[in-house]
Amino acid sequence: MHRLEEIWMTVSVGILIIFMAIVGYQTFSLGMGPPSHAETIDPQKVEETAPFDDPGVKKIGDNEYEVVMTLQSFAFNPSNIEVPAGAKVTFTMTAMDVTHGFQLPGTNINAMVMPGHIQKISHTFDEPGEYLIICNEYCGVGHQAMSTTITVK
Ligand code: CUA
Repeated sequence: MHRLEEIWMTVSVGILIIFMAIVGYQTFSLGMGPPSHAETIDPQKVEETAPFDDPGVKKIGDNEYEVVMTLQSFAFNPSNIEVPAGAKVTFTMTAMDVTHGFQLPGTNINAMVMPGHIQKISHTFDEPGEYLIICNEYCGVGHQAMSTTITVK
C-alpha cells in the first residue's frame, strides 16, 4: 500500500472510532439517548382512556403539577391553564385526530403530538407571566388559529 493511502485509512478509521466513542459516552454515561419506550393509546378511545378522560391541571407532588391535555383541530383542551411559578410541570398529551405541535416560544418546549402516541414533556416556569402555546405542525385550514396561553403565577 502507498504511504499516503495508509495515512488516509488511519485518519478515517480514527475519526470513526472517535465519533463512536463520543456517541457511546453521551448515550450511556450522560443519558442522552432517545426515549427507550413509547407509550401508545387507541386514538379512537382517547376520551374514555385515563388520564385523558379527565383533562386538566393536577397537583401530583410537593411542587409538581401534571397538565393532561388533548389536542384536536384546532384547539388545546383544556385551553386556559394556570400553574404556579417555580413548580415542575409535566405536560401529558395526545392528539385526537391528526398530528399537532406543542410549542411555547421563548422556552425550550417544542413537541410533536401524534394520534396514538402519548407525549410527555416537563418544564419549570421560573418567571411568572402569560406564555403563548402554538401548534407548529400544519394540521388543516384552522392551523394558524390553533393557539392558547398558559398563565404562570
Ligand atoms: Cu394543530 Cu396545526
